[in-house]
Amino acid sequence: MGDALTDMPTQRPASSWRRMTHLELAALPSAVACARLHAKAVALEWGLPALAENIELIVSELVTNSIRAAHHSRGAGLTVAVVRLWLSCDLSGFLIRVWDGSSQMPVRQDPGPDDESGRGLMLVEDLSSDWGAYQDTDGKVTWALMLYPFLQWQATDDGRCGH
Ligand SMILES: Nc1ncnc2c1ncn2[C@@H]1O[C@H](COP(=O)(O)OP(=O)(O)O)[C@@H](O)[C@H]1O
Ligand SMILES: [Mg+2]
Repeated sequence: MGDALTDMPTQRPASSWRRMTHLELAALPSAVACARLHAKAVALEWGLPALAENIELIVSELVTNSIRAAHHSRGAGLTVAVVRLWLSCDLSGFLIRVWDGSSQMPVRQDPGPDDESGRGLMLVEDLSSDWGAYQDTDGKVTWALMLYPFLQWQATDDGRCGH
């Protein structure tokens, strides 16, 4: 397992990832579908078909939240509110990060059976190994880390993350 990944999921230099992508989207409702499609394509391209659906769901929840937050704060110097999505993987896990220009931090809710909202971060928690948020330049990043099942994944020679 990659020690750096498990110890510091959010603070590794870009060069330490086997694969990384970055997508910037205007903070419009249509961005959710774009982010989902992108995440699915990336998961398949990186050899992780078994994780694609859960990656899509997590990306969808985090981007939806960030779009809503971005409407309250654009981020310094930006004329159009944007959200940013980074996907990274190595041989031990897959990391999803979503930036928005709001400094307000996400708070996981504890909804009752009749509550219609407050379930997004619960789902993220269920589908990921760990998640969190940290303040970042002019806003914050919400992240979710998916560690691969122990020993299920093997190193490959072609830079893919799956087996
Ligand atoms: N990116 C974010 N920026 C600011 N606040 C957030 C963000 N994501 C989540 N939150 C806060 O955490 C709460 C819980 O989020 P979530 O579980 O997705 O439920 P919901 O989106 O239905 O409110 C939100 O209502 C919001 O107050
Ligand atoms: Mg939500």
